[in-house]
Amino acid sequence: MKKLLALLTALVMVFALCSFAVAEDLIKVGFAQVGHESDWRNANTENYKSVFSAENGYELSFVDADNDNAAQLEAVRSFIEQGVDYIIIAPIETAGWNTVLKEAKDAGIPVIIVDRSVDADPSEYTTRVGTDMVKEGETAGNWLAEYLAGKDANILVIEGSVGSSAALGRSEGFNNIAKAHSEWKILDSQSGDFTQAGGQQVMESFIKSYPGKFNVLVCQNDNEAYGAMDAMNAAGITYGVGGDVTLISYDATKAGLGYTLEGKINADVECNPIQADFVKTVIEKLQKGETVDAFTLVVDQAFVAPGITSQYATTLTQDILTARPY
Ligand code: AHR
Repeated sequence: MKKLLALLTALVMVFALCSFAVAEDLIKVGFAQVGHESDWRNANTENYKSVFSAENGYELSFVDADNDNAAQLEAVRSFIEQGVDYIIIAPIETAGWNTVLKEAKDAGIPVIIVDRSVDADPSEYTTRVGTDMVKEGETAGNWLAEYLAGKDANILVIEGSVGSSAALGRSEGFNNIAKAHSEWKILDSQSGDFTQAGGQQVMESFIKSYPGKFNVLVCQNDNEAYGAMDAMNAAGITYGVGGDVTLISYDATKAGLGYTLEGKINADVECNPIQADFVKTVIEKLQKGETVDAFTLVVDQAFVAPGITSQYATTLTQDILTARPY
C-alpha cells in the first residue's frame, strides 16, 4: 500500500511539473478589446478566444473595455506590468495612444493594433491587422449610386462610435462618393454608438425631425440597423426592397444578412470579424525573428438583397447565408 501511495505521489508530482513546464512555454498575449457593443464584436471576441487558446500554445489575458477609453488604456498598462509577450489592441478611438504605445515599446513588448486604427506613427507600434473602413464606405456609396441611377437621395446616416476609425473611415468613404452626386443630400448624421439601442434612439429622433423627407438610411453597423428598423416599424415607415427607404448597413453578420435575404436591408457591406488567424500568423513570424508587414489587410465583400444585381456586391442567396460562419 505504501509503495502504491509513493508511486501515486510521484506521478502527481511529475504531472504537476509537466503542466508547469507547459504553462511556462505558452506565449502570453494580452488583448484589450473594445467591448461587446455589437454582434460583430462578439463574433470577433469568440474568434480571438478560440485562436489564442492553450491548445494552440497561448495564454490569453482578455479585457473587455466596455467602450471606455480609460479602461482600455489601463488594460494595456496592466499587460505591460504583467510582462506579457505580445499586446493586441482593438482601439476604441483613434486618438490618445502615443504615451502608452511608448510605454510598451520601452518595455520591449510588441504591440499589434487590430480591427480599428490609431492616430500614431506606425513606428510607435509593431504592426496592424484590419479591414479598410474607407473602402467599406466607398463600396456603400458606389452601390447606392449604381442603384439609384441618378435619382434624388435624401440621406440620413446613423454613425458608429464617435472618434472610432470604423465610423470615421466609413463616413469618409461614403462622403467621397456622395460629393460627386449633386442629386444627393445628407440631411443629418448622428452617432448610434454601434448599438441597437443607439440606432433606435437616433432613428426615433430622425423620424421626428425629418418626417417624410428622407428616402435613404445608412446605418454604420447591423445592430444600429436593427434598432432603426424597430423605430421605422413603430412609425409605419417601409424600408428595404420595394419600401420607401433604401436601407444600407455594414458588418454583414449572419443576422444582418438574414434581413438582407428577406429584402429588409438593401445592401450590407461586410466588415470581416474573423481576424485572429491573421494576428496569429504575425506573432508566429515575430517568434521566429522574421520581419512583418506594416499592415495586413483583412478583405471584405458586400451583399445585396435578392433581385438586385451590382458590380460592387454579391446578390445574396440562402446558400451563401447558410455557409456564413458568423
Ligand atoms: O470596428 C468594427 C466595428 O465595431 C463594427 O462594424 C461594429 O459592429 C463594431 O462594434
